[in-house]
Amino acid sequence: MIVVLIGYMGSGKSTIGKKLSKKTGFNLIDLDDYIEEKEKMTVSQIFESKGEIYFRKQETKYLKLILETMDNIILSLGGGTPCYGSNMELILKEPKAKSFYLNASVKTLSKKLFKKKLKRPLIAHINSKEAMTEFVGKHLFERSQYYNQAEHVILTDKKSKRKIVKKIKKLL
Ligand code: S3P
Repeated sequence: MIVVLIGYMGSGKSTIGKKLSKKTGFNLIDLDDYIEEKEKMTVSQIFESKGEIYFRKQETKYLKLILETMDNIILSLGGGTPCYGSNMELILKEPKAKSFYLNASVKTLSKKLFKKKLKRPLIAHINSKEAMTEFVGKHLFERSQYYNQAEHVILTDKKSKRKIVKKIKKLL
């Protein structure tokens, strides 16, 4: 089984992924980390030196490779992964994969992201909390149509990490 964690930047995919990995004994693959390792550059460096289109191509290539060759893993995606090419379709048609959308509100996401924007090239330039809320609001609205195709939608606002992990585990 491949447990695929989907959600906007800052929705907790990596943290929940780590906890789920401990609880299930499945290895955690964080797609951003995987890309960084393969490309020998950080995501920010890839965006800066090769551009976003190159990053998206690599993202699809490695997603396919992982889905085809791995099993019994937790796969934490990048926030944009489900929204490009036919990535969401690939995930949905993969019989081994179970997908979970970690759904957090614009308020929760923008608050968290304003503090942790620097390693995220898409939002690193945003200078005020208000501008962050506006950006996340519009961006999340565009992306929700992809995220909501996940098999399960987990509302995360006001839930402890432990509770979220427990909920996902029950659905496996
Ligand atoms: C992106 C999210 C990032 C990373 C890249 C682009 C996005 O991952 O893949 O900066 O398009 O939302 P996180 O969701 O782990 O921050």
